[in-house]
Amino acid sequence: MSNPSLLILPGDGIGQEVMAEVRKIIDWFGENRDLKFDVSEDLVGGAAYDAHGTPLTDATMAKAQEVDAVLLGAVGGPKYDDLDFAVKPERGLLRLRKEMDLFSNLRPAQCFDALADFSSLKKDLVAGLDIMIVRELTSGSYFGEPRGIFTEDNQRVGINTQRYTESEIDRVARSAFELARRRNNKVCSMEKANVMESGILWRDVVTEVHQADYADVELSHMYADAGAMQLVRAPKQFDVILTDNLFGDLLSDTAAMLTGSLGMLPSASLGAPMENGRPKAMYEPVHGSAPDIMGQDKANPSACILSFAMALRYSFDEGDAATLLETAVEQVLAKGIRTGDLMQADGGTPVGCKAMGDAIIAELAAS
Ligand code: IPM
Ligand code: MG
Repeated sequence: MSNPSLLILPGDGIGQEVMAEVRKIIDWFGENRDLKFDVSEDLVGGAAYDAHGTPLTDATMAKAQEVDAVLLGAVGGPKYDDLDFAVKPERGLLRLRKEMDLFSNLRPAQCFDALADFSSLKKDLVAGLDIMIVRELTSGSYFGEPRGIFTEDNQRVGINTQRYTESEIDRVARSAFELARRRNNKVCSMEKANVMESGILWRDVVTEVHQADYADVELSHMYADAGAMQLVRAPKQFDVILTDNLFGDLLSDTAAMLTGSLGMLPSASLGAPMENGRPKAMYEPVHGSAPDIMGQDKANPSACILSFAMALRYSFDEGDAATLLETAVEQVLAKGIRTGDLMQADGGTPVGCKAMGDAIIAELAAS
C-alpha cells in the first residue's frame, strides 16, 4: 500500500521557515516511527501570485483535492496589500477552504503550563485552559450572495450577506457534538438570535440536532457578544464553542490571546469523509505570515508543528504519535527553551526557529 499523501503549502512570510521545521518532524517520524508520508510541495498566496499571477493555480487546487491532507503555513504580507481583491493572497486560502468544502474548523485554545504567565488575563483564570472553538468555515458572511460594492442613489454601498442553510448548520453542529463527546461533553453555541434571522435558524437547528442525536452532550446557547465577554471573564467555563464563520474568526482570535501565545496554536479544517474514510482536511497555524520577522530565523514553528500533530490525530488516526509530538513541544517549553515571541516574562533560553525545531526533535528522540 502506498504511503498517505501530504501537500505542503508554505505560503508567505514565516510560512516558509516554520514549514521547514515541520518537514524535519515529518522526516523524523518516517525514520524513527515508520510513519511515512508522500510529501509534495507547492505555492499558495503571494508566493503563487509572484510565480503565476494568481494566489492559487487550478493545478494546485486539483492536487489539494487529491491528497490525504494539506498542511498550510501562512499567506499575505504588505507587499500584496495593493493587489486587486480577487488575487489577494487570502483569496487562495479561501478558495481552498471553499472548494475542499472544509466546513468544520477546529481551533483549540490551550494554555501551556509553562506559558500561563504570558496571558493578558490573570494566571488563575487561564492556567489549565483547554477549549476548542468549532468555527463554520465555508458559508455565512464570508461567502453569502449578494456581495460587492455597488452604487445606489449616487453613493457606494458595500454588501455582504450572512446566509446559512439548515444543512450547513446541521453538519457543523454534528462535528462539534462529536468532538465534545471525546472531550468534556459540553457545547456552547454562539450566535445573535436576538437580532439576526440566521441566528434564530442557527439556534433552532443546533437544538434539533442535539435533541435528535446528541442529548447526552450538555448544550447551552449564548449571544456571541455575551460569549466574547464570558470568554475573557471566565474562559474555563467552556469546553467546545460552536459558532459561525465571522463570529468564529473573532472569537478564535480572542481565545488565542487568552493562552498568551499565538505562536503556539494550531488548527484543523475538516470536510466530509473521502472514499478512503479520511476527512478532506487542511491543517494550518492560527498565526499569520508575520512579515516583520520573516527570513530572520525568529519565528516560532510550534503552531505549525502542532498543526501536523492535529493531522496525525484527525486525518491519520495516529493519536499516539500526535500525543508524542504534543508532549515533546510541552517539554521544550517546560525546559525554558523559547522563541522570541515567548520571551517577555520569565527569561528562559532564547532560540531561533531552527533551534526550536531541533529542540522538539531532541525531545522526540529522548522519548
Ligand atoms: C483566519 C484568518 C482568515 C479569515 C483570513 C486570513 C482570510 O483571519 O483564518 O482566521 O478571516 O478567516
Ligand atoms: Mg482570523
